[in-house]
Amino acid sequence: MKIFLDSANIDHIRQAKSLGAIEGVTTNPSLLAREKGDWKKLVRQICKEIDGPVSVEVIATDPADMLAEARDLVKIAPNVVVKVPVTLDGLKVIHELHQRGIETNATLVFSANQALLAAKAGAGYVSPFIGRLDDIGQDGMQVVQDIMTVFRNYDLSTQVLAASIRHVNHFLQAALLGADAATVPLAVLLDLVKHPLTDIGLAKFLDDWAKR
Ligand code: G3P
Repeated sequence: MKIFLDSANIDHIRQAKSLGAIEGVTTNPSLLAREKGDWKKLVRQICKEIDGPVSVEVIATDPADMLAEARDLVKIAPNVVVKVPVTLDGLKVIHELHQRGIETNATLVFSANQALLAAKAGAGYVSPFIGRLDDIGQDGMQVVQDIMTVFRNYDLSTQVLAASIRHVNHFLQAALLGADAATVPLAVLLDLVKHPLTDIGLAKFLDDWAKR
């Protein structure tokens, strides 16, 4: 499973990169809005830092404006992937961008049906939002499993990017289901490393060594 960082914070991205685990970055309008300064400069900086796909979302909701934004976004850097919400107009835009050879990440996916339509339209990635489904009492991981099954049934090449991952168990379940990629905030990435027995074991080794 590829691991992406779900962040627009350059310090978080550099910290994650230093662990050698990050193969891409996903941003969204909320994440970019949290950061100070010129957002395009920041996206350019992120794209230089990361040797892999960097998802950046269109803000417009009208198809013509979404297409214009997408064209501007891909001028920022060659590794920009255009994130487009799965609406009727979003699907038209994904289809159009696919025909022009521009890679897309279909976002705000909450069902396997939406994912299937996005894949048919030519999305490079679909991003099911696990945590937000859990938040409303549904089973976000079930949607990832459904998408995996549908994509395997029909041999679809669109990659499943598990998103809205809130804790280590979401990450593990996504990996067990065979998701192509998972995007995680830095806090979750750091939690993946932690285990109390590792800390206890290390303390014991150091203690025993000090006694020799
Ligand atoms: O970037 C999309 C997604 O990962 C958002 O996560 O935690 O805001 O639901 P969250």
